[in-house]
Formats: sequence, C-alpha cells, structure tokens
Amino acid sequence: MADLTWLDYFSDGEVTQDPYEYFDHLRSLSPVLREPHHGVVVVTGHREVLDGFTRTVPTPAATTMCGRIPEAASRQPRRPSHPPLARAQPDAHADSMRALADRVVDDFVDNGRCDFVSEYAMPLATRAVETLLGDPTRDRVAAAAVANHDTVRDTVANLLGTAVRILAENPGFAEALRHDRSLIDPFVEETLRFDGPTKVAFRIADRPTSIGNHDLAAGTVVMLVLAAANRDPRKFVDPSTFRLDRTNVGDHVSFGQGTRACTGAPLIRTAARVTLDRLLDRMRDIRIRERAHGPASDRMYVYEPTFLLRGLVELHIEFTPVR
Ligand code: HEM
Repeated sequence: MADLTWLDYFSDGEVTQDPYEYFDHLRSLSPVLREPHHGVVVVTGHREVLDGFTRTVPTPAATTMCGRIPEAASRQPRRPSHPPLARAQPDAHADSMRALADRVVDDFVDNGRCDFVSEYAMPLATRAVETLLGDPTRDRVAAAAVANHDTVRDTVANLLGTAVRILAENPGFAEALRHDRSLIDPFVEETLRFDGPTKVAFRIADRPTSIGNHDLAAGTVVMLVLAAANRDPRKFVDPSTFRLDRTNVGDHVSFGQGTRACTGAPLIRTAARVTLDRLLDRMRDIRIRERAHGPASDRMYVYEPTFLLRGLVELHIEFTPVR
C-alpha cells in the first residue's frame, strides 16, 4: 500500500480489502487523530476507544448502520433517551437455531462443497434474524433490528463466514473444537477480536470533551475503529495472530461498550456457538477450495466494499459430509 497517511478511508478500494495495515499505521502516528479528507476524528487505540464510548454518543442508527458519508452525522440531532435495555433470552433460541442450522446444511451437505456465504451464512442469518426478532412493537432490540435489517443480517453472516474461513484455513483449530466443544466460545470471541464484522462505530461529541490528548468540540464526528482497538498491541499480545488461549479475549470491543453496547450480542453468541457446533457435527475435513481462492501460499479473498462492515463476498469450501 502506498502513502497510507493520505489515503481516504471512505473511498479507497484497497483499504476495504485489507484495512489492518492502515489501522496499524494510524495508531502508530497517534491513537487519536483527525483524518484529512472529511475532518473525522479517528480513534484506533483500545484505551481511547473505551474512552470514546463513554464520552460521545451514538449517531442515529440510520446514519451509522447504512454507511453514509460521515459528515451527514454531524447534522443529526442527538438520539432520544430510551427505556432500560431489553433482556435478551439467548438460550431460549438455542434449539430453534440448531434446527435452523440443520435445515440450511441439508440443502447442500451431500455436494461436499459450497459457497459458504451464499449457501449457509446469508440464508441462516436472514432466517435467524427473523426468528430472533420476535415482536418489534414490544421489544426495543427487535425494533432496532427491523430498522437496520440488512445490516444486522450482514453482520451475522460476516461473523459466520469469517469463523468458517479461519476453521478451513487452520485444520488444527477445527480438530481442537471438534474434540472439545467448550473451545467454541473462545473461538467465537477470538474471531470477533481478530476480524470482527463491524470495523467502525460513528459517534458524536454532544458536549466539549476529550479522548486521549485530543480535545473535541461539541458536534465533532468521531469514528471509533473497533477493528483497530482489537489489534492494539498495548492491549493484546501478538495481536495479528489468531490464538485460542487469550486470557483477555473478552476485552474486545466488537459489540461496543457501556450502556449503548449491542443488545443483540447474547443472541449472536448463541447463534454462532450452536451453528458452529452443528457444522462440526455434519462436515469433516473442511478446507478452502483452491480453484476459487488459490493455493494456501497465495490466497485470494474478496471482501464487501464498505468502510463500515467486514465480510467476505464468497467463501468456497470443500468438506467430507458426515452421514
Ligand atoms: C455479529 C453481529 C453484530 C455486531 C458485530 C454488532 C455490533 C454492534 C455495535 C458495535 C453496536 C454499538 C454501536 C455504537 O455504540 O455506536 C451495536 C449496537 C446495537 N446492536 Fe448490534 N451487532 C450485531 C448484531 C446485532 C443483532 C442481531 C441485533 C438485534 C437482534 C443487534 C441490535 C443492536 C442494537 C439494538 C444496538 C443499539 C443499542 C443501543 O443503542 O442501546 N445487533 N451493535
């Protein structure tokens, strides 16, 4: 990548494919800085992102979730206050998620290969979000998810796609999880840290404040780079390596932080755990299809061209069906 300092994060095609070198570069300049093209304050340090969550407020959901150009956010009013957080009941959904996973796998498992994104992750995420929504008139989680239906679906699909890419690239992890299913939870958390579905969260300073050494005037648009905070070497040892044994993996910020953190997180964790468990039951020797993605020494993956989310366009895998 050429001159990273002057790159426009919001329009550069290359950085959407591999954002981590750019985020590392920004963090090395300063964990809080104003980017030159749109005037957005970009926060890439873990400690500073935590400060950012407490000292700024979310932009309106439509602005944040649709990936619109960030200046528009500064013209939006502060979001209204809301009733106490809805209590999600993730375990109540585990059985229906398991049945759903089986129905989706039934459609392709005998082929011994699939495009995991279009044949599993998207159909499952679509049906899971519909199932999890319940009655949107009664539940704030459901109402917000309906309002941002496509983005919520995409984040769920992205998480599943990334998790299976990592399993297919690392047969050792797949075998470890197959034999000890209690490792699925730390695997999901490390997937969220290592390559989470939401790269950034847009926030607004609703009053004069500061993050790190950076003073912010009221109305400043702030981009909290969750994907960069999750790879801050001051917080995570060897941050660019996927590890199952991190004691502090739960400190990732992929679901946000504090009182406005993601209310869907418990449901997502259940959905990911249950579906990975069933995939391991029903497929052996999961591997990347080299005809589609090239050999292990030279893989080619294409990611959705968005500055907001992180998700594969396609993921072609091969496997041995378990009958
Ligand atoms: C892997 C999938 C998901 C990821 C990575 C994710 C991530 C996030 C993040 C980072 C925030 C905080 C935004 C901010 O502070 O500005 C958030 C908020 C939120 N998420 Fe999610 N989300 C996911 C799936 C879901 C699902 C499935 C639902 C609903 C069923 C949901 C409902 C919400 C709601 C309602 C909020 C706003 C919370 C509030 O304002 O109090 N999310 N999400």
